[in-house]
Amino acid sequence: MANQEDAFKKVVSHAKEYGFIFPSSEIYDGLGAVYDYGQLGIELKNNIKQYWWKSMVQYHENIVGIDSAIFMHPKIWKASGHVDAFNAPLIDNKDSKKRYRADVLIEDHIAKIEDKIKKEVEKAQKRFGDAFNKEQFVSTNPRVLEHQKKIDDITARYSECMNANDLEGLRQLILDLEIVCPISGTRNWTEVRQFNLMFATQMGSVSEGSDTIYLRPETAQGIFVNFLNVQKSGRMKIPFGIAQIGKAFRNEIVARQFIFRMREFEQMEMQFFVRPGEELEWFKYWKEERLKWHLALGIPAECYRYHDHEKLAHYANAATDIEFEFPFGFKELEGIHSRTNFDLSRHSEFSGKKLQYFDSELNENYTPYVIETSIGVDRTFLAIFSHGLKDEVLEDGSTRTVLSLPAVLAPYKAAILPLVKKDGLPEKAREIFDLLKYDFMVQYDEKDAIGRRYRRQDAIGTPYCITVDNETLEGQGVTVRERDTMKQERIPIENLRAYLHEHIQPIKVD
Ligand code: GAP
Repeated sequence: MANQEDAFKKVVSHAKEYGFIFPSSEIYDGLGAVYDYGQLGIELKNNIKQYWWKSMVQYHENIVGIDSAIFMHPKIWKASGHVDAFNAPLIDNKDSKKRYRADVLIEDHIAKIEDKIKKEVEKAQKRFGDAFNKEQFVSTNPRVLEHQKKIDDITARYSECMNANDLEGLRQLILDLEIVCPISGTRNWTEVRQFNLMFATQMGSVSEGSDTIYLRPETAQGIFVNFLNVQKSGRMKIPFGIAQIGKAFRNEIVARQFIFRMREFEQMEMQFFVRPGEELEWFKYWKEERLKWHLALGIPAECYRYHDHEKLAHYANAATDIEFEFPFGFKELEGIHSRTNFDLSRHSEFSGKKLQYFDSELNENYTPYVIETSIGVDRTFLAIFSHGLKDEVLEDGSTRTVLSLPAVLAPYKAAILPLVKKDGLPEKAREIFDLLKYDFMVQYDEKDAIGRRYRRQDAIGTPYCITVDNETLEGQGVTVRERDTMKQERIPIENLRAYLHEHIQPIKVD
């Protein structure tokens, strides 16, 4: 646990030190669970969004994108169920006066037991070496079975309480599991209450008579209410999808996990409209497709797992999360939901407009069913950033910090470094900057010794360093150093663009 905490602290401090993420309003001591992206953070974030957008909209002939407004008619949130049911169960510790989400306390407790299983597996793996059979071990080892039984029992009770909205049952579960407040260390808990997570504000001046409106807690509803506009104007045929990237806002109770749980964050959502009865096939398709998208980033498969929902939202008939192993354990990164025809039907009912589709092949009208894929930009950022950040011991015993980002997502694709700040090298380096800047985000840097400049570029994830030296002036090209292998090769200047294009390819999802 101490190691996990240290790794997480390193992620947070590295993100700030190098201009990726700053606490919002920092000079005023910050604002809880709100963060600003700095000069490098915005580049990485934009590249992540572009990877998602291309893989959804550009690579699929039947998916189009929109950008709907954050403010929407207040009835939308009544129809979607958010006004009545977008709640989190909260609980306070009477001694520390700290507030927690009851569901998160229980999920963290389960995660601790999962951690014990992981440790047993790691121990056995060391003991048995190559002969180790993980599947056999977890299905027969008595200690693992005992831990697994505990998890299953807790999960069953927890799901029952959540499904029945049984707040007293949740509290009792927290007491029975002897969960203590991490601050006070006591079990002196209040009752559990429901808390609506939507931010409300006023539209129009008070004197005119203002209306309460909400900051959207998900981007999805902007897609549903535009279903007919897009279908008709784009002559879309079912099955088809509408994608959107945009801000969402939730008044989260627990704000202690950096950009994992924010009050203002960004979502990348896609609603895929299908024929009734075909939704579970499409659910399976998107479940697999989305995992492929993550794996195409080159992060090992063991960092991801599916978590099928036992507790289904009232509108869903299947749901799964893709969880990622963050520095603080496996947690939700993306949700894939089979939302039935709930949203379109409710908006038809509340707006009085028929949101249906005429299927010419079937010669019938119906309300389409929907598969949703919903992923947080910020959580994806955190996953890629935390996985890529490493301290390495080099052959000569020295250490370096390297941010191994996929090249196409890195803020800068190359740094152009004159070996020294004289002899015409800066001028030549600037020529190369001008040669590359229309194709790639490149950085010019002449400050400090070359070794320190390499380290700085490693720390911000720049995949290539291009060094300009005296031989460059004699027409003998430049040195290109690759971040991860630190291998260097000599490349003629006229080949540089082609070299970078060849090595920095868009990520393909096969
Ligand atoms: N439209 C469905 C929906 O919003 P969700 O599971 O509540 O589903 C989808 O959210 C994704 O949005 C999550 O998997 C997560 O990546 C991201 N997300 C949700 N709440 C967040 C928060 N407070 N901070 C950062 N990301 C969040």
